Amino acid sequence: MSTAAFRELLGTQLPVIQAPMAGAQGSEMAIAVCNAGALGSLPCALLSPEAMRAELKKICEGTAQPYNVNFFAHRRPVFDEFRETAWRALLRRYFHELGLAEPAVRREGEREPFGEAQLEVLSQFRPRVVSFHFGLPEPALLEGVRKLGARVISSATTVDEARWLEQQGVDGIIAQGLEAGGHRGHFLSHDLTLQMGTFALLPQIVSAVRVPVIAAGGVVDARGVKAALDLGAAAVQSGTAYLLCPEARISAQHRQALTGPGARHTALTNLFTGRPARSIVNRIMSELGPLHASVPEFPLAGNTLAPLRAEGSRLGVSDFSPLWAGQNASVCQSVSAAEVTLALAAGAILD
Ligand SMILES: Cc1cc2nc3c(=O)[nH]c(=O)nc-3n(C[C@H](O)[C@H](O)[C@H](O)COP(=O)(O)O)c2cc1C
Repeated sequence: MSTAAFRELLGTQLPVIQAPMAGAQGSEMAIAVCNAGALGSLPCALLSPEAMRAELKKICEGTAQPYNVNFFAHRRPVFDEFRETAWRALLRRYFHELGLAEPAVRREGEREPFGEAQLEVLSQFRPRVVSFHFGLPEPALLEGVRKLGARVISSATTVDEARWLEQQGVDGIIAQGLEAGGHRGHFLSHDLTLQMGTFALLPQIVSAVRVPVIAAGGVVDARGVKAALDLGAAAVQSGTAYLLCPEARISAQHRQALTGPGARHTALTNLFTGRPARSIVNRIMSELGPLHASVPEFPLAGNTLAPLRAEGSRLGVSDFSPLWAGQNASVCQSVSAAEVTLALAAGAILD
């Protein structure tokens, strides 16, 4: 599919999607990107239905352009006492160091998968695009989204996942390469050795499916967009490129890490949530090792870590907080979301 046909599908002028980034941006970013001619996204993984409604209302007031609403489609975790105990043992020395009490055990996570409540809010707004990470929701929920008239897209990190998504009837597939910041979207297998870089993954997915493919992971400027489109992508989805924009809602420590020399050193870590995600390497990742077998299932790991994160933030250090970023973070600039969008789009020859 050409970029023109894909832009028609999305309803945007430019073949660029601003990646949804839960905890790092909200409606301001989405509005700025939509008004610049690309597809702005609202990440909902960390929003209650009420907060989601308020954000969507702001988007509708701020732009008349189409937008994307994004959800995590993970299954609810099964609490495992053994892993929780092992996780607490690993973190104990940090609680001692900061003089903090360990929090009570919680069996529910902070991140909500897409469900009836979210579908109900969507029905009031009928967004043009709905995207999912970690697969797709149950068929009945997915059907509910389709009935609202939304185009459905989801991330694939392997050819098998792309084929599976196509069989479920998605309108587009986001090929998420290993360079990408934030959570890996894998859902068919948890074997990280199956994960590939964008330029290996993208052409393989393009050859394997008939639906349009969106390149994600490491695309931060016009050169990356041009290369992705040359490899058969119909559009790109960029996240890290937008993190330093004034419209981003990241902490001062995250901003500082993104602009320092450490931004060149990222790694996949499961310490912050229980699922592998790419972050700039910080103290806890260096000391415990970025991937640890004792970490509770997604998203439960975050519960016990929460007081350490909060205290770290209060002290102005990023020792215990995720610093989500892709491998190309050090190339990013502190310019407006509209400028980032137009700079990316300059890599696309619009047919
Ligand atoms: C800070 C951050 C948060 C993210 N949160 C989400 C999210 O909530 N939902 C989602 O589908 N993808 C999320 N992602 C992944 C992006 O969709 C996308 O795959 C990634 O940003 C592309 O790679 P790049 O960061 O190199 O541009 C996040 C990425 C970052 C950097």
